[in-house]
This record gives sequence, structure tokens and C-alpha cells, in this order.
Amino acid sequence: MTDIRTRKADHIELALQPKHQARCGAGFDRIRFEPNPLPQMSLQDVEFDSYFLDMPIAAPFMIGAMTGGCDNGEIINQHLAEAAQACNIPMSLGSQRAALERGLPQNVRRWAPSAIVLGNLGATQLQQHGVDLAQRAVESVEANALVIHLNPLQELIQPNGDRNWKHVLEAIQHCAEKLNVPVIVKEVGAGIGPNSVKTLMDAGINWIEIAGRGGTNWASIELARNGSEREQEIASPFLDWGMDTIEILPTVHTACPTLNFIGSGGIRNGLDIAICIRLGAKMTALAQPFLAPALISTEAVIERISIFKEQLRWAMFLTGSQKLSDLRKASLQKEVNKGEHG
Ligand SMILES: Cc1cc2nc3c(=O)[nH]c(=O)nc-3n(C[C@H](O)[C@H](O)[C@H](O)COP(=O)(O)O)c2cc1C
Repeated sequence: MTDIRTRKADHIELALQPKHQARCGAGFDRIRFEPNPLPQMSLQDVEFDSYFLDMPIAAPFMIGAMTGGCDNGEIINQHLAEAAQACNIPMSLGSQRAALERGLPQNVRRWAPSAIVLGNLGATQLQQHGVDLAQRAVESVEANALVIHLNPLQELIQPNGDRNWKHVLEAIQHCAEKLNVPVIVKEVGAGIGPNSVKTLMDAGINWIEIAGRGGTNWASIELARNGSEREQEIASPFLDWGMDTIEILPTVHTACPTLNFIGSGGIRNGLDIAICIRLGAKMTALAQPFLAPALISTEAVIERISIFKEQLRWAMFLTGSQKLSDLRKASLQKEVNKGEHG
């Protein structure tokens, strides 16, 4: 197997192991809704009324970026894409770098002809190969938007990772100017905080996926792959690097209310989705929770989507929120200490 292929296979195997989830937890239990014991509606009245990139979707969450779909990711992507198509839930592809570099077919549109599909490239690939690569990423899968991921800590720990991040912002800005689809910038689990959000907004980015700390821990995954004792010692203080999704969302939403935020990083159920929406997210994304079902079947992914939808419906019902606009105003009990309420 080539480098990128071995890396992807390792990532999938390691991401499934609980020990590579954030040690500190996602902190969603620190935010609680004030229960509304008089919902004054029926559970069936709950409406998700969701749009993403101006298109109607079934619920305000998507399948987060995991694999570009070539090699061992092919079957995973087939199950994810077929489920995305069947449920009208958007799907974010993982990095298309390997497929584009080696001219491999990308079949996602065979399985998801009309679902919203997002392309994906690393920011350092853009810096190295420019807008041409971005255009090929979009065209090769008829992507509805291109996601650019920022992962400087992961690159530092990854053997032979990219350590030159000069001119990355210029590359992103250029891409946003030239592409005829929206550009979404995301992290991979350390979060994008208010200062970086403002920088990206000034560079013309309107959509930001937070991908904060609390879920899949890329420092931990890359450390498990890095056999160098010296590099392990250097990297070990950074195992909890990042900002929690639930801390970032309200801050960036207040700082840049016109920007569109996708809450992600550590979302594990429909109640977490509801919390992100309440904290200012327009949309949410879950990656690792879809990995195990995607290794089984399309039906298993569809069932996971259906459970997340039902949990979101319950959260809305129990806060008396008929629509997402009601959920956005639902009362919270803030910063409840774990266990305080038994
Ligand atoms: C197996 C796996 C592979 C991933 N590959 C990519 C990738 O290629 N591009 C990317 O932008 N993010 C990638 N991610 C990061 C996720 O999209 C997400 O930002 C991160 O895992 C945090 O979300 P989670 O806690 O829901 O997993 C990957 C995640 C997993 C679990």
C-alpha cells in the first residue's frame, strides 16, 4: 500500500477505538435546556424546516468528512452516500487528495446523484497546488461546495506531515474568489476560534465548520501512528489541544452573527445537535458516529440518521420548540456541573 492509503486505513481503524476520542469529553453535558413540561403540541408537530446552501434537507445535520472514497474508503463512502441520498442528508467527503493525485475514479455521484455532496482538500494542498486542484476536486464529484480543512497539529505529529503553512490564507482566499461553489473552512477537532473566524471572514469565507475539541482526537490518533519516541515526547502535551465546540459556538456567533456556522466536533446524538443549533449553529456535522455503521451497510447508516433525527425531535418537543427558529430561542440552564441534578 502507498503512504496515503496506509494512512487512511490506519485512521479508520484508530478512529473507531474509544481511547482516541477526546479525553476531556465534549462538554455537551455542561449545557442543558430548561425542560418545558407543557410542550403544548404533539411530537409529530415538530418540523425540521432545514436548508443548507439554499437547498431543502431533511434535518439540520450532515455526515462529516471522513474518506475521499478511493481504496479502502470506497465501501464506506458507498454506504454513506447511499444513505445520504435516501435520507436527503448532506454528505461531506474526506480528502480527495489521493484520488486526484492518482487519477482514481470517484464514484460518489453514482450512489448519491442528487444529495448535497461537499468536496474536501487540505489547506496545505491548496497552498502547494493552487486553485486548479480545488477546481478538479469540485468538478470530479460535482460538489455543491468545497470544504478546506485546517489541521496544523495533525500535520505536525504525522510522519512527513506538512510543516510549512506560509501563504495558506492567501490560497484559501484565492480559492473563495475563483470557485463557482461556496468554500467552507473547517478544522478537524481543535476548533476554529473567534480570531481565526474573523480572519477567514475577511478572506471572503461565509461558512465555517467549527470541528472543535471533544470528539475524535487527531493528536492521539497520529501519536499512535508515530513510532518516534522523541516526537511522542514532544507531542504529548498537545493531546488536549483545542477549544470545545460548545465554547466556541456562542462566542463566534456573537462576534460574527452574519457568518454561517456548522457545529461539529464531539456531537454524538440528536440532543447534542439541538444544543449546537441553540448555540448558534445553522447546521451540524457528525463524522466518527457514522464510521461503524458505514462499515456495516447503507441500512445501518440510514438507521443511525433516523435515530439522530428522532433524538432531535424529542429535544425539540421537550423544549416546546415546534420549529428550529423556536429551538434557537429555547431557554438554557447554563454551565450545570456534571451530576448537580442527579
Ligand atoms: C476516519 C476519519 C477520517 C477523517 N478524515 C477527514 C478528512 O479527510 N478531511 C477532513 O476535513 N476531516 C476528516 N476527518 C475529521 C472529521 O471530519 C471531523 O472534523 C472530526 O473527526 C471531528 O468530528 P467527530 O468528533 O464527529 O468525529 C476525519 C474523521 C474521521 C473519524
